Amino acid sequence: MAPSSNFIPIVIFLSLVLGVIVPRGEARPRAFFVFGDSLVDNGNNNYLFTTARADSPPYGIDYPTRKPTGRFSNGFNIPDLISQRLGAESTLPYLSPELTGQNLLIGANFGSAGIGILNDTGVQFINVIRMHTQLDNFEEYQRRLSALIGVSQTKRLVNQALFLMTVGGNDFVNNYYLVRSSARSRQYKLPHYVKFLICEYKKHLKRLYDLGARRVLITGTGPLGCAPAERATHSTNGECSAELQRGASLYNPQLEQMLQGLNKKFGSDIFIAANTAQMHNDFVANPTAFGFATSKTACCGQGPYNGIGVCTTSSNLCPNRDLYAFWDAFHPTEKANKLIVEQIMSGSTTYMKPMNLSTILALDAST
Ligand SMILES: *[C@@H]1O[C@H](CO)[C@@H](O)[C@H](O)[C@H]1NC(C)=O
Ligand SMILES: *[C@@H]1O[C@H](CO)[C@@H](O)[C@H](O)[C@H]1NC(C)=O
Repeated sequence: MAPSSNFIPIVIFLSLVLGVIVPRGEARPRAFFVFGDSLVDNGNNNYLFTTARADSPPYGIDYPTRKPTGRFSNGFNIPDLISQRLGAESTLPYLSPELTGQNLLIGANFGSAGIGILNDTGVQFINVIRMHTQLDNFEEYQRRLSALIGVSQTKRLVNQALFLMTVGGNDFVNNYYLVRSSARSRQYKLPHYVKFLICEYKKHLKRLYDLGARRVLITGTGPLGCAPAERATHSTNGECSAELQRGASLYNPQLEQMLQGLNKKFGSDIFIAANTAQMHNDFVANPTAFGFATSKTACCGQGPYNGIGVCTTSSNLCPNRDLYAFWDAFHPTEKANKLIVEQIMSGSTTYMKPMNLSTILALDAST
């Protein structure tokens, strides 16, 4: 056989192999890293000795497996729905034993239900992963990933990743307002407490920046006083609790300002503020416009507005979760999470500052 006829199959073979490998590397969805509380925890607390957990039915009733996963939702939570928009698989919980090898390349979820900006938030849940430790865990993750793909590839993956941080609600609900005359409420008047929270939050965000984050979605708190738990316990006629609403309305605009300040300091749009209070307020004000039968009563729970205690197999459970904005006393349904992620993707600057996620994805794809 002439050498030239051998050569052609080799070239075809090589180009097939390279053709498969090269675009695959380029087309891999960007990594996604998640930090925060029960609004984003996707199973870390299942591995902890804690009372803040969502690992028994009916949690997960609408999840593809119909089983509880640790997500505080009937189905998908916000991180899952963002992963879907990135064309990526959901990230694994940091504590999952499956978070090894190629799975590290997807990113990771460091969230832990019950935590806040402050170390003393959520102490009643016994063992939770506080923000400080979530960031320590992110460092450990980077060491593990470096062992797999090297230090410079790790740095690149982290710099190009999308981040989500959702924290702050518990600093009100499970700290300042947890009991009448809490230690923090005796220490600070509400406006000073809010300033203190913003100042502590800023330190976490600077550390996240130092650890390589360059695109970070930051959600504000929801309308805290309108959660079924607060309507049931901090209100006289089921109206939104005025005190908790005051907390949210002081906190959210100062959070946006702080993020703007950081972006200015870093000279780039690193931190993107998602106005989740406004998104949620829209369905609280006009539930039917979004296809909800109610935004006052939780689907799963007991007592007024199903807002007392936790959601268990002996709770009231609504037959159609899509008709409810709230799944349990504090957390949105999958349907509400989908509406929130829709606004994160394509909302106007009323909802997303300085720009929405679809604009960011387009910008980052072209650079
Ligand atoms: C929170 O706890 C960590 C770990 O114990 C500590 O390093 C950090 O300084 C604490 N933060 C504050 C604001 O006290
Ligand atoms: C948000 O996203 C949509 C695309 O889905 C875009 O048309 C729109 O202009 C964006 N809005 C802002 C304010 O960036």
